[in-house]
Order: sequence, then structure tokens, then C-alpha cells
Amino acid sequence: MHQLICGNCQTTNATDSIFCKHCGQKLVRVDSSKEEVNLHSLRRSASSGNQENFPGPNREIEGERKPVTILFTDIVGSTAIAEKLDPEEWKEVIQGAHRRVTAAISRYDGMIAQLLGDGVLAFFGAPHTHEDDPERAARAALDIQASMIEYQRELLGLVQEFKMRVGIHSGEVVLGEIGAGEHTEYLAIGDAVNIASRLEGLAEPGQIVVSENIAQRISATIELQDLGEFAAKGKTDPLRVYALLKIKVESSLIQGLSGERSSYVGRVDEIKNLGASLLSLCRGQGQIVTILGEAGIGKSRLLEHVRDQLTKIIAEDTPYPPASIHWLDGRALSFGGALSYWMISQLLFADLGLSAQIPKVKLKVALRRRVTALFGEAAAEILPYLSQLLDLDLAPGEDGPNPIQSLSSETLKHQTLQSLSNYFSKVAQVQPTVLVLEDVHWADPSSLRAIEEMLALTDRAPLMILLLMRINPNHGSWGIKLKAETDFPHRYTEIHMRQLPTTDATEFVGQLLRSQALPEEILEVILSRSEGNPFYLEEVVRHLIEQGSIIQENGIWQTTGASGDLGIPDSLHGVLLARIDRLEGSVRSTLQMASVIGKSFQYRLLEAISDGDIDLDGHLSQLQRVGLVWEKARLPELEYIFKHSLTQEAAYSTLLHERRRELHQRVGQALSGIFTDREEEFYGLLAHHFEAAEDHEKALAYLIQAGDKTRHEDAHIEAADYYQRALNILEPLGDDQRARATWLKLGLVYQTNFEFDAAHRAYEAAFALE
Ligand SMILES: Nc1ncnc2c1ncn2[C@@H]1O[C@H](COP(=O)(O)OP(=O)(O)OP(=O)(O)O)[C@@H](O)[C@H]1O
Ligand SMILES: [Mg+2]
Repeated sequence: MHQLICGNCQTTNATDSIFCKHCGQKLVRVDSSKEEVNLHSLRRSASSGNQENFPGPNREIEGERKPVTILFTDIVGSTAIAEKLDPEEWKEVIQGAHRRVTAAISRYDGMIAQLLGDGVLAFFGAPHTHEDDPERAARAALDIQASMIEYQRELLGLVQEFKMRVGIHSGEVVLGEIGAGEHTEYLAIGDAVNIASRLEGLAEPGQIVVSENIAQRISATIELQDLGEFAAKGKTDPLRVYALLKIKVESSLIQGLSGERSSYVGRVDEIKNLGASLLSLCRGQGQIVTILGEAGIGKSRLLEHVRDQLTKIIAEDTPYPPASIHWLDGRALSFGGALSYWMISQLLFADLGLSAQIPKVKLKVALRRRVTALFGEAAAEILPYLSQLLDLDLAPGEDGPNPIQSLSSETLKHQTLQSLSNYFSKVAQVQPTVLVLEDVHWADPSSLRAIEEMLALTDRAPLMILLLMRINPNHGSWGIKLKAETDFPHRYTEIHMRQLPTTDATEFVGQLLRSQALPEEILEVILSRSEGNPFYLEEVVRHLIEQGSIIQENGIWQTTGASGDLGIPDSLHGVLLARIDRLEGSVRSTLQMASVIGKSFQYRLLEAISDGDIDLDGHLSQLQRVGLVWEKARLPELEYIFKHSLTQEAAYSTLLHERRRELHQRVGQALSGIFTDREEEFYGLLAHHFEAAEDHEKALAYLIQAGDKTRHEDAHIEAADYYQRALNILEPLGDDQRARATWLKLGLVYQTNFEFDAAHRAYEAAFALE
């Protein structure tokens, strides 16, 4: 049987295709009967998607903790099917199914962890986290079920009914090579894996069942059906589960809270700069603008706001009125790096006023009409290339002879780029046009090439190329920014978005909580954790509400005291870990080590706990280059700080508990070794590290010294906290003598602070130990 499976992305193509419909790769015919499918080759193909530029897939992983999305598939009634088939036939059938599942997983950069006879276990987020792993898994599952419908048709006559169940769940697991001797496997261990497997068991044939945490993360783009609660074997709480139905929208543009959004805050200069560029466009001058900044800083929202307010922002008369601007939107997908011309084809769809789901016939007619209107007789020179780009086949003779078939791929590429330039140049000559290119940091290479080619059009037509992107100097998008900056300085504007200043961030939080008079402590927690990033601010606020750390009573927000362990909001965890995972292995482990020291860390300390021969300076400059840490001070000593405390927490969260203990011990020892003459200053810090290292004796010694020191400085709250922590260790140890002394000191602290009830209770506890 001849199959046309793309060697690059594993998509199944129609048997007469020359290029892959998914990634554009030239197709090679493979005789599937000769092809051995084994775990190794499937795994290799499943990681070849590698759409984000992570370091090589072979990075050594000792073991780490991480939130991972787990997907299970299983063939329904496989024993009954197998019984009716010859084993060789059954093997063929299973291979075909595995190949389709693998192709779908690979498309979204998932990883096949195990082939389980007739089922598959796959991870999204291992070894590398993507910010949208739940969505990737959901889309892969939808693709799997769609491909199974096709496969069942192919199997007609051999198998009566061929269906799969799919289950998806995400949760924290421990990942690593597990096994003994020669036989090791990269596995995930944790309850989340069992839950995913249970969900798969709950699914009807052909259905995809997901847990509540997945549902929450994907509901903006994927339609779901609430299936209610199920009691799962071995689980105390029932599981709320949902069935995946279909994709609602291709992707949601703006990050953040679903539902109502807060009104726009601050960004006066950015609005002014973007407005000035658009004004030039309305005067007929071509423009190139990049809006740069980290995830969630507000790039998309800035553009949305300016578009909304454009007639107010450009108040003067211009040759082209602002309302006449033709906006064409294209957006790269995080998992779309292998889809050639994805962004550009979106611009074409936008220009035709059509959505990507339109039947091909309609698209073909609309394209021909538009190209003819723009180019008249010359349409035939452009149409074949644009048709090919949109995956439309031109019947011979329909629009003249199809010139494409005889071209080499180099010439075809060249002509396609040329046709695109001609097309958008003409479009802009009719009315001023803005090509909005969102999330260019994920763009596919062919779209990038086309954008690069089109930069020069801005010298000839009222065209604005507007690029929104995160900073990633290792991605092709950065090259475009550099080219625009150096070759077109006369047309170029760069808007670098940074953190919201505290006043704006405060106003923003006030708007989110609909309260301008927030208690200081709430505001403090929110602002310090989110550091002026609006997306982080939104998610932290939502997390605090969901966790019950803040509640509203009679219209006033209050803390409930349940703010001890704030944790990282689920939606942010992926964004943060994806950034960390993009680092090279050794740089990443330096970041993890630094995270154990704390939000800010002295160079000397990091050096002391690092393993011998690493290039610490090199690592730190890389970390600064990608904006994860900053130099905090050079004098009196070199010190760095994590840009976001959430990044520090995310890096820390990936360390196995055992490793954390070991590193805290090293930090504690290094601290007391380096700062011998200033140890007093560091009692609290030393206590913290030895507590986390579970070195009880040292922790106790420092907690009590820290308590005594702060008590003498009249810092009552701190002193009480240290003594309380000491008691938490002493009581299980049964060390009554020291416990008694500590209760007495605690009593004294309360008494001096006029907290007589608490003092009374502390003294009583002390006397009870006599
Ligand atoms: N100035 C602002 N006023 C009010 N809300 C804002 C502001 N800036 C951003 N937001 C909100 O913050 C969230 C994140 O913003 P946005 O999606 O624009 O970020 P982004 O920089 O485009 O991120 P990404 O790189 O992930 O695309 C959104 O919910 C947005 O509505
Ligand atoms: Mg955006």
C-alpha cells in the first residue's frame, strides 16, 4: 500500500500530492509494509516538531518536578477486534493507528512516552514546557479523533468499528529517566498520570474527556460539554469532567482573564508613538513598527486600544482619513512553526474577508475575483502562486497553463515571494493598509522570509508593517527587526513595552477588583508578585480570589490570612517555565541554583554553591541577555536579582525536594562561611536555609538566635515568628527543655507587645512542659 505521509511532520496527504499540505515539504512515497514502527522511531518523529527553539532534544535531565499535560489513547474493543484478525493484519492495523496518533502529537510538539500495546501515553510539557500545553494536547486529541474517522473508513471490510477513547489531564509530576541498568525510560510519576488514564476510561468510543483544570485553560478557544461529576476508583473527591467538542476560534489574541476586561490604563507614550506612525501612514507614508516586550506586558492590548481610539488619536485632517485604513491581521501560532506561510495566508484570508474554514471553492472564486480586480490582465501571473500558497489546486486550462508544476522549488519560492509583494503593494495603493503581524516570535520561516521581502514596499506605498513580538534574539523574527532598524531607519519606529509604573499598576488592580481603596497589604502582595506585568497582575489577582486568600465583604476586599503559600497561578506557570526551558541545560541549572538562594543573590554565594568548573559569568550574562535576571548592585558586592519573583518561584518549583534540601544546605554553609564576621546580620536567612535543608539542629540554633536578636530590637512580629518556627521543630523532637525556654521567650514577646491573651497561652504551654 502506498502512503503519502510527510517525513517532516507526519501528516497524511492525498495520494497524488507532491508537497505536504501541512508543512510544504516535498513528499516521498513510502511502502508502509516495509516500514518498522518502533518506539524509538516514533519518539524521534514525535519530537521533530520542535516548533519553539528549545535547546536540542537530548538535554540530560536528572529528574525534575513540573506541571505536565498527560494524554492517553486507547483503541475501543481491541481484544475483540484482534480475535477476528490474523496477528500480522492486527499488527498492521495497530501500526497505522500509532502512526496517526504520533503524527498528531508531533504536530503540537508533544512527546510519546510509551506505546501501551494498543494505546499511547503522551506528554505535552515534557521535556520542554510550552505556555499552552493543555491547548496543544486538546488540539492533538481532536486531530487524533478526526484521523480515526478517516482510518475507520480505510479499514472497512477488515474491521467493523475502529474507535479511540482519549483522556487528558494536567498536574505536577516528577519526570526523569526511570529504570535500572540498560533499560531506562523517560517517565512521569505522579497522581496526574493515573487521573489521565481514568479519564480515558470514562470516555465513550470516539470521545475525548478532559479534567476541569484542562477545561479552564482551553475554554476560550475550544468548545466543551460539561459531563458532570464522576466518582473515580481510588479517588476521594469526584472528578468534574468535560468532553471536547470542536475548535471555537483559531486562537484568542489577548491573554488574560476571560470575561469582562478592565478599562485601559496608562501607556501614554506608547499610544503617542504608535499614533504618530499611523498619522504618517494617513499622510501616505509607508511605516515599519515593532512593538516589543515580554509575554503579557500588553502588546496586543495596546494595539487594540489604539485601533479603537484611532479617530480620537488622529484628530487632524489627513489625505487618507484614519477610518479608511485597511487592517489585515495575521497571527503566528505557538505550535505553527512548521506550517509554511501560515501568517501570510492569514493576511490573504483577511484581505478576502474570509475565514480559514471557508470551503475551497468559495475561496478559489474570491481569490480569482480579487486578483483580477487588482491586476486585470496580469492576474494570471500572480494567481497560480497565491493559489498554491493557499493550498488550492488550479485545474489545467482554467486560468491558463499551470506554470508551477515545471518549476524548481527555488524558483517557485522566489516567484511566490514576488507575487506576495506585488499583491500587498497593489492592495496598499488602493487604500492605506496595515499588515498586523501578531506573535512574530513564533512565525514560520517562510512567512518571515515573505515579511522581510515586503519591508521594502514601505518605500513605495502607504503600507505599514506592524510587528508584535516578544524578545527572542535566537528566532528569525529578531533578524527582521534588525533589518528594519538598519535598512529602513527613516520608516522605523520601535515601541519597547516595559513594566507598568506602580501608580498605573495600582490603578489597574483597583479596576480589576473594582475598588479604589484596597488595603495596603493586599496591594503589596499583588504588586510585588507581578512587577508591573498586566497579565501577571490579572492572574495573581484571580489566583488570590480563587484560593480564598482575599474575599470581598460588604464591598470591601479583605485578606483572609490564607496567604501563606501563594503558589503560582496555573496559567502563568506554563509561560514562566517555557521561558526557563528555552535556556541551555547548564544555564538553566545555574538559574535553578540561584532560585534556591532567593529573589536576589550575591555572586559570591552562587559561586560557592555551584559545581566547580562551570562558566558562571557566561551563564549570568546569558540570563541577563534574555531578561530573566538583572544586575542589582556592583558595590559593595556583586549582586543579581530575578526580574520577577514568579520566575524565581517557577525555577525553584522544578527542583526535586531532595535536591532542594541539598542546595539549601550548601547555601546555609556558604553563607556562614563567607560572612563569618557578619553572621548576626544573616541569622534569619541562615535559619531559613537550614530549615529548608531539614537540618534541625542548625535551623534551631539560628531561629532562636534570630528570635533573640529581633526581640532585643523590639521587632515583635518577627521575633514571635522565629520562636514559633523553632517550636514547630522542637515539639516533634520532644525536646521539652528547649521548647519550654522558647515558649517563655514567646510569652515575653507577646507580653511586651501588650498581647496578653497570647502571652498567657504561651506561658501556660511553657509551664505544662515542666
Ligand atoms: N494598559 C493596560 N490596561 C488594561 N489592561 C491591560 C493593559 N495592558 C495589558 N492589559 C491586559 O493584560 C493582559 C495581557 O495583555 P496582552 O495580551 O496585550 O499581552 P501581550 O504583550 O500581547 O502578550 P503576548 O506576548 O502573550 O501576546 C490582557 O488581559 C490585557 O487586556
Ligand atoms: Mg499578544
